[in-house]
Amino acid sequence: MSEESRQIFPDADALAKAAAADLLRLAQQSVVERGIFTVALAGGSTPRKLYGLLAADPRFQAFPWTETHLFFGDERHVPPGHIDSNYLMVSTTLLASGRVPAGNVHRIRAELPDANMAAVDYDVELHGFFPEGMRLNGFPRFDVILLGMGPDGHTASLFPGSKGLEEKERWVVANWVEKFKSARITFTFPVLDAARTVLLLVAGADKADMIREVLMTKRDTATYPVQRVQPVDGDKIWLLDRAAAAPLPETR
Ligand code: 6PG
Repeated sequence: MSEESRQIFPDADALAKAAAADLLRLAQQSVVERGIFTVALAGGSTPRKLYGLLAADPRFQAFPWTETHLFFGDERHVPPGHIDSNYLMVSTTLLASGRVPAGNVHRIRAELPDANMAAVDYDVELHGFFPEGMRLNGFPRFDVILLGMGPDGHTASLFPGSKGLEEKERWVVANWVEKFKSARITFTFPVLDAARTVLLLVAGADKADMIREVLMTKRDTATYPVQRVQPVDGDKIWLLDRAAAAPLPETR
């Protein structure tokens, strides 16, 4: 059973707090039910606040880090110390607490000179970590996948017009992004759609026009990759701040 829902918060701080509370609840539930919590992290700037809260805010100290395994939904083709690295962003926020066992952090080796090799390397790691019993229709079933959305409607590193949009079999691909003249390493749609919960964090007025497009106008998955995320048996939850949700009617 799949459901799509949205929640709107006054600002980015309130959104981050709510996302942290959701993650804590889903983590504790997963550990009770399956003894483990698998989460794929989003990159970009929006999740920074969330990662900072999970690392340092006493309200989230009960997070079951020992049973939690962190993965990355996408990565820029740069070394882990590079300013554009999603791993760097996560290591200076979420991992700064030192509470996440190093062996539980599964980063994308984007320092490999060939982005395809980095994608294959991560694909192999995921196949090793997710046995048949932790898959849905042959794809890894993450407890939670965190995603963001770009002003162009991209999510993870699945950009409009890019080849990665059409991938049906591989779990991870190197996806050439013409506007950046660079490849990104990214989960594919079948992996996003196999998740139990997809949490979409979108904040800021620069996202409002795209939010109007993807949530209020026609469904056009070719143009708006974020619309194509449709969990097969899971929830798609939009967490928005008021600035991004400006075109949307108030929620009760
Ligand atoms: C990345 C992300 C990407 C991000 C959006 C939104 O590596 O950049 O995974 O999909 O979520 O671009 O980015 P902001 O949060 O910075 O607006």
